[in-house]
Amino acid sequence: MSKPFESVTVVGAGILGTQIAMFAAHAGYCVKIYDTRNGAFEETFAKLHDDLKAKGITPVIPWERWQGCKEAVVFTTDLEEALKDVDFVVEAVTEDIEVKRELFKKMGQTSPAKTIFATNSSSIPVSRLEESSGRPAQCLNTHFYMPLQGIIMADLMGGTQTLPEILDKGEEWLRSMGFIPLRVKKEILGFCFNSVWRSIKKQSLYMWGNDFVDFRDIDRAFRIFTGAQWGPFGMMDTVGLDTVANIEMVYFDKSKDPQDKPPERLLEKIRKGELGVKTGKGFYAYPDPEYLDPDFLNPEKKK
Ligand SMILES: NC(=O)c1ccc[n+]([C@@H]2O[C@H](COP(=O)([O-])OP(=O)(O)OC[C@H]3O[C@@H](n4cnc5c(N)ncnc54)[C@H](O)[C@@H]3O)[C@@H](O)[C@H]2O)c1
Repeated sequence: MSKPFESVTVVGAGILGTQIAMFAAHAGYCVKIYDTRNGAFEETFAKLHDDLKAKGITPVIPWERWQGCKEAVVFTTDLEEALKDVDFVVEAVTEDIEVKRELFKKMGQTSPAKTIFATNSSSIPVSRLEESSGRPAQCLNTHFYMPLQGIIMADLMGGTQTLPEILDKGEEWLRSMGFIPLRVKKEILGFCFNSVWRSIKKQSLYMWGNDFVDFRDIDRAFRIFTGAQWGPFGMMDTVGLDTVANIEMVYFDKSKDPQDKPPERLLEKIRKGELGVKTGKGFYAYPDPEYLDPDFLNPEKKK
């Protein structure tokens, strides 16, 4: 598959940024990754590795290619160095609009004029960031899911002034890494699939948050019904409960509908540092969550 450009910089070496960097390296791009946290890439890489191993998941990038991909990615805590002569930047920092706006501003001031800016935000349309960059015609959303786990699709959406050729480049980039692009024709919160997933997540949190059911039963039901390897709560643990709550707050800020607010029970877990896989505890305990038990779907079998 031909490449639309040569170099990619990922801004933010968390769960998603690290995966995007690995896929870009795997596809032969010249890749840098920037984070303000020393050792962030190394640390997240190890977490992803351990999490997939614990879940018995065969990742899309074969294990034998992991070390090579890691070595091909250059980690830096120097933004100027990260953006030097780069063609395409994908921002994947914490889901906080002010943090992202500040970054888009710095990226606009520091990058060459040719550079395209994408955001991996789950809930912020690029139309809310584009002005800060000073180059709104070159901004877009490219929203990835958990690619290493096999979700090799990504939403693609423009802002108010994105040029069609910039969206085409975004699409070519996704395809060159083996992703299916989900092109969104006009702005909608949550893009293509994430807005559907968000409805499932919101109702699951409401049911658990108001104590209608045990969260495990929702995961069991979802898995039996769909044949998926995980249910909404297992998935939220992987995403990170702080990220989940931040995304819900974006919807709430827009609608002001109390039903859109994340339940107090979720916020309590976050205050206790129970953020999911990344902190070793969320809805389940890691690295060996009970939903990996072959009898999880039918615990009666164990008795
Ligand atoms: N977790 C998911 O499943 C998922 C899926 C799709 C999209 N996203 C989106 O991807 C983005 C990142 O999510 P994540 O789950 O990888 O988060 P994360 O918490 O795992 O990582 C965020 C990283 O950003 C870094 N960071 C924070 N502020 C920074 C700054 N000013 N400059 C540089 N680095 C900074 C942090 O040190 C951290 O390493 C969010 O916008 C989120 O909505 C997440």
